[in-house]
Amino acid sequence: MRYPLEPDRSEMQALADAVLRRAIDFVEQLPERPASPAGVQPEEIRALQRRLLAPPAEEPTPLGDVLARMEEAADTAVESAGPSYLAYTPGGGLFAAAVADLYARATNRYIGLSAVAPGMAALEYSVVRWLCDVAGFPAGAGGILVSGGSTANFTALVAAREQRLGEDIAAGALYMTREAHHSVGKAARLAGLPQRSLRIVPASSERRMDVQAAARMIAADRAAGLRPFLLVGSAGTTNTGAIDPLSELADLAAREGLWYHVDGAYGGLFCLTERGRERLRGIERADSVTLDPHKGLFMPYGTGALIVRELRTLRAAHAASGEYLQDLPDQEVPDFADLGPELTREVRGLRVWLPLHLYGVAAFRAALDEKIDLAQHAYRRLAAEPLLDLPWEPQLSIVALRVKAQDGERADALGRNVLERVNAGRRVFLSSTVVEGRFTLRLAILAHRSHRDRVDEAVAAIIEAVRDASNSTAT
Ligand SMILES: Cc1ncc(COP(=O)(O)O)c(C=O)c1O
Repeated sequence: MRYPLEPDRSEMQALADAVLRRAIDFVEQLPERPASPAGVQPEEIRALQRRLLAPPAEEPTPLGDVLARMEEAADTAVESAGPSYLAYTPGGGLFAAAVADLYARATNRYIGLSAVAPGMAALEYSVVRWLCDVAGFPAGAGGILVSGGSTANFTALVAAREQRLGEDIAAGALYMTREAHHSVGKAARLAGLPQRSLRIVPASSERRMDVQAAARMIAADRAAGLRPFLLVGSAGTTNTGAIDPLSELADLAAREGLWYHVDGAYGGLFCLTERGRERLRGIERADSVTLDPHKGLFMPYGTGALIVRELRTLRAAHAASGEYLQDLPDQEVPDFADLGPELTREVRGLRVWLPLHLYGVAAFRAALDEKIDLAQHAYRRLAAEPLLDLPWEPQLSIVALRVKAQDGERADALGRNVLERVNAGRRVFLSSTVVEGRFTLRLAILAHRSHRDRVDEAVAAIIEAVRDASNSTAT
């Protein structure tokens, strides 16, 4: 009897070789691949999507055809794996992590409950423990690898809600600035908190939380019958990379008895570097920290982390059981199912563990240091251009800039024009945001494949674009 779902050794080899060859070709071509599909006509993209939405056939499709379709699917995209990706929050995707994933998927260990695969659970938990050390957390700390920053923020918010509010959540209030990532507000909504629970604390001109203002709001809210329970600081905002005054926020949270969560999805892993550790001082005093290996450790998407000062707080919020799980004894490594929303879950640790061990931690530290240097370099070069305004010196690796003009509206229009011109070149891909009501361009330098040559290209493209845009609209 032949089972088509169970290829033999030579078939497995042929399939893996064919895919691996394509993956390696792809990675080799990354430096020359276009930064985005800018210029591809919308109707071409619609046609592509229609083709790729096709359901599977009843009969087998030849391997070559399947792989060609797969490549077609990957081909038209913002090149989020390459050196040109300087938009949003880059990650990269280490090749070694992809290979680890192949092994993890083939071995398909079940690590929702640690007793089922104690070795793989321990290996994954070694990554969590290391992340706790990186953030400077004490013994007793722990955490869980989750799918990304949004899930980590949600998991933290549920733990904070459970510990500080219990079931009486209607009057709960949490504090953050407008610069906090939108996933925090979304997490509050998903956690059942009413919209009015979100208290937006003013930010200083550096886009950092005004701690005095937060203290005044907390006092006023308490007097008005609300139950302040959570203070959220940002260890590097998405907009400008601003770092909230993390130590002062820790003091405030301690004084007021609030849970202190730090969203370090973008910036937290810079703790690996000396400069990052200095700038993020206070993060080690948080009750929980979101860290995103799919950003700061260049892992493939789907790799986030939440670490907590006291593991029992995560357990209190997430532990649950069923009679059908009665045979499983407790282990040294906690059951991940007790620490987050998932029971069955993918192995996320191997893809982090393998590159960390293979390359050593120093390689990651050096790569992050390089990003800080590159941001400083770009900032200095762009700030020297009289047509540009760079209101904030980069704290980590995001450079935010605006176009100078007599009035804000014209500056915003020029900014949009610059973004379009730069991205149309397809050598780099930038994104924009709005800060203080003003259109703001961002150069987010975090991909492990972005080095000095590409940052120089981005800087040159921005300067050329702003000169051209100013000239063409001035005449
Ligand atoms: C500061 C911050 N927090 C949270 C998130 C959300 O992370 P994810 O996209 O992994 O859900 C991001 C994403 O860029 C971020 O920059």
